[in-house]
Amino acid sequence: MVTIALYNLKGGVGKTAASINLAYLSAKEGYKTLIWDLDPQGSSSFYLGVSASVKNEAKKILSNEIELEDAIQHSSYENLDIIPADLSSRHADILLSDMKQPKKKIASLLSGIKKQYDIVFLDCPPGISGLHDAVFQGADWILMPNIPTTLSIRSFETVMHYCKENDVDTGKIKCFFSMVDHRKNMHHEIINEFYKDKLFFKNYIPYLSDVEKMGVHEAPLEIFAAGSYAAQCYRDLWKEIRKSCIN
Ligand SMILES: Nc1ncnc2c1ncn2[C@@H]1O[C@H](COP(=O)(O)OP(=O)(O)OP(=O)(O)O)[C@@H](O)[C@H]1O
Ligand SMILES: [Mg+2]
Repeated sequence: MVTIALYNLKGGVGKTAASINLAYLSAKEGYKTLIWDLDPQGSSSFYLGVSASVKNEAKKILSNEIELEDAIQHSSYENLDIIPADLSSRHADILLSDMKQPKKKIASLLSGIKKQYDIVFLDCPPGISGLHDAVFQGADWILMPNIPTTLSIRSFETVMHYCKENDVDTGKIKCFFSMVDHRKNMHHEIINEFYKDKLFFKNYIPYLSDVEKMGVHEAPLEIFAAGSYAAQCYRDLWKEIRKSCIN
């Protein structure tokens, strides 16, 4: 089982859009795929039309009141399951801070389902907190979408610095550019500069309204816009990720 965390300190950079589209592509290729929605916003859960079946489920998972396996739900798509989020995910940091080995919590929960899945995507909330420390430890890969703007790149550099200072293996960090706008010189300049860095995948996701329409259709791009440029971009990115992180 390979665990890929869609993560960024910064919010609204395309983590959830990538979680859904990449997980769908993974499932379509026959990999048994799970999305674990760790964000109290529950956006991945919304896109897949699934909600938690038990009250305060996220909190109960972390406090071992229910098994992780029992929180798994099937999506409408073959090979694609999800652990939905609810608002109780907001207590994750407090719960973890009371535990003995909080950084190992995500890894230990995932170890119980490792035989059932080939690929797990963790859709993380933005931020750097105790939950993220556990994600950094538990994930095989930390996949960061970055918008090529000054503040987004600053956030990327903050994360890199944090990881180095806190013994997170920076070898597991991979990045791709997200919401790229070709009309903006700054986007081109930042992309060209960061491509020198091997952390960044060559394929990127442009700013495209079809991605926003996922909210209207409540579905991955492949379902309602398979022939679109946006869907093609996620397919290309997925191929590059698979080659580098899965095979
Ligand atoms: N490539 C894109 N082009 C245009 N709009 C996009 C693109 N990617 C994401 N969006 C839109 O931007 C918004 C934020 O995207 P998304 O929810 O994927 O980001 P996020 O990083 O998961 O956000 P959060 O930090 O709140 O969890 C959504 O409305 C989404 O539809
Ligand atoms: Mg999100």
